[in-house]
Amino acid sequence: MRLRKLVSYGIILLSLVMGFGFTTIARGFDIPPTNTQIEFAQETSDLMLNTLFAALTQEFNETTPENVEQGKHSISLIFNDQNKDMRLVGTLSPLRESDRPRDSFERQANNLDLAGGQAYATVQKVEDKWYYRRSIPLSNFRAECALCHVNFPVGPTSDWVGALMLRVPIRN
Ligand code: HEC
Repeated sequence: MRLRKLVSYGIILLSLVMGFGFTTIARGFDIPPTNTQIEFAQETSDLMLNTLFAALTQEFNETTPENVEQGKHSISLIFNDQNKDMRLVGTLSPLRESDRPRDSFERQANNLDLAGGQAYATVQKVEDKWYYRRSIPLSNFRAECALCHVNFPVGPTSDWVGALMLRVPIRN
């Protein structure tokens, strides 16, 4: 009898300790990133933006009425749908349905963009991971835009047409 009691106490004590341990671990995952970690992600996103902008500029420089379909295919492969860390997003007859805003960040960023070319950035958790997210508004700033996006006015014009959205995982 004494032994049985002792075992029950043991089990209760063990569950309490385990429960406390698990909640502490869970809280640990919830700790927001530090300023230094956020700064690191911001600087990474600046480098990423410059790289992507250079790649897109190269593609636009090479776009002619004759190679529009190949150019579209090329841009689509660079912005592969599997890669959620860089996306071209828009709601003005997007070339791909998957380019419509997908979550609340993208919806808000797209609204701010269309309302006056406002950039947007935030730190948020997506599927249990912290990310630095930003949107870079895009205007119809080149004549070539309308070769592929036939719904855009023949440019360059200052119309805001969508955004490049970047997402950088924050290291801890
Ligand atoms: C060579 C063709 C081509 C040119 C030139 C081009 N784009 Fe695109 N653009 C694409 C393709 C293809 C996509 C879809 C990418 C994907 O698969 O996610 C796209 C996507 C977009 C999107 C997201 C919404 C949508 O339509 O899918 C925006 C916004 C956008 N481009 C803006 C621009 C702007 C602004 C310019 C000019 C500065 C431009 N594009 C020039 C081919 C082009």
